[in-house]
Amino acid sequence: MLSGKKILIGVTGSIAAYKTAYLIRELIKLEAEVKVVMTKASSDFISPLTLSTLSKNPVAIDFVKDEETGEWENHVELGLWADLFVIAPASANSLSKLVSGNADNLLIATYLSAKCPVFIAPAMDLDMFKHFSTKENLEKLVAKGVHIIEPTSGELASGLEGKGRMEEPQVIAQKIHEFFMKDSVLRGKKVLITGGPTYEAIDPVRFVGNHSSGKTGVLLADECAKRGAEVILITGPTNKKVKDPNITVVRVHSAEDMMREVEKVWAAQDIGIFSAAVSDYRPEVAAGEKIKKTDDSLTIKLVKNPDILMWAGQHKKSGQYLVGFALETENEEVNGFKKLEKKNLDLLVLNSLRDEGAGFGHDTNKVSFLKKGNNIQSFELKEKTEVMRDIVNEIEADLKSA
Ligand SMILES: Cc1cc2nc3c(=O)[nH]c(=O)nc-3n(C[C@H](O)[C@H](O)[C@H](O)COP(=O)(O)O)c2cc1C
Repeated sequence: MLSGKKILIGVTGSIAAYKTAYLIRELIKLEAEVKVVMTKASSDFISPLTLSTLSKNPVAIDFVKDEETGEWENHVELGLWADLFVIAPASANSLSKLVSGNADNLLIATYLSAKCPVFIAPAMDLDMFKHFSTKENLEKLVAKGVHIIEPTSGELASGLEGKGRMEEPQVIAQKIHEFFMKDSVLRGKKVLITGGPTYEAIDPVRFVGNHSSGKTGVLLADECAKRGAEVILITGPTNKKVKDPNITVVRVHSAEDMMREVEKVWAAQDIGIFSAAVSDYRPEVAAGEKIKKTDDSLTIKLVKNPDILMWAGQHKKSGQYLVGFALETENEEVNGFKKLEKKNLDLLVLNSLRDEGAGFGHDTNKVSFLKKGNNIQSFELKEKTEVMRDIVNEIEADLKSA
């Protein structure tokens, strides 16, 4: 995710400027804050109104905002505001100005003021792209540390076929995302996540289970994968799907299945996030055939399931970081701190069923983080995706300071 990141998009005069609208949407989906600076020529290709609406910010285009009052657009402030400046599409004309520093428009003046990383996605006809002038300009920009997002080949606005199409907005957004994520401390770390409920068989068609949807495990897996971690998600039955194809998903049913899978991999992990809502008990005997409705009552003897989180805590090696979850209904904090200690956790994510919008079946959650030394941090009710981000941010901060 790009939450907290400020991205400035520069738009120049190319037919590909319509794709900038999609790029803004992609970046906003990743939760970046987006502002747009345009050249005058680009406004013939896409309207500033469209881009200001999508970016939720006024678009900068002229040096002077208001002729009558003399109010001017502060290109220096805009350049310094950005954490990353991406010029997409970049015309041949603007490439040349970027190299020479010809600041006769607001976009180039902003570029000269910016101190952040700069990405450029050229778009032009194949012969313009092949021309030695364009080539030399791109080489000079690369030599100065500017990141070039190569155009792709295909049909061009001129009707010709060749290399010059601006890269697709989704790919540009992905490259920007990867750029920021490469600094994440989770990059290359092995993360084991458990999620979902467990189903404890009564007979071939019935089970003891709970209302966990599996959403938390899936969101956590995606969040860690986005930050470059190698993720294994061991999940109980769920219809939620991970977005990142690089996550290894291991599907299990019962607590005993989950225990077996965790035992196989835990020793090799750097981080464990155990969010599964594991059934504490299971039927002592699972009937081989469907139990018939005969007597007025049916007694099923339940026996204790293995405590997977406790096992992971007991087998935690130095350097491993372990996160557990607790859903309490009373004496939340006292019970939470006991669990933190007993299960040898580094972080306990506590939520209370007494909080409205928290717990199973909601898209929101309200949690507190408990750590050693009676350290407690409580959060507002938030979207579950944001809660997962907070959890992963907390893990990253702890790993950084370790
Ligand atoms: C229909 C049309 C499409 C154009 N497409 C491109 C293009 O894809 N790439 C390019 O470098 N120039 C293209 N141009 C030329 C630029 O718009 C022109 O060089 C302009 O001065 C660029 O100004 P700017 O770099 O300040 O935005 C196109 C011009 C027209 C009329």
